[in-house]
Amino acid sequence: MSVTIKVMDDGPFMVMGDFDIVDMEGRKFQFDKAQPIALCRCGKSASEPFCDGNHITMAYKSRVRA
Ligand code: FES
Repeated sequence: MSVTIKVMDDGPFMVMGDFDIVDMEGRKFQFDKAQPIALCRCGKSASEPFCDGNHITMAYKSRVRA
């Protein structure tokens, strides 16, 4: 199983691959596994852990490089 996480400039983590996302009790979040998903990095999404685009309205800034 290979997973790639891309840190987007001023936005979410884009996650690609075969993986599950679970909460603290181990319950799986439901999402379309055929598509890359965006995980919120700004803390302002109304649908965490997923990005809902609110990072744009709050002008979230974070540009990191490996
Ligand atoms: S990164 Fe998109 S709403 Fe937080």
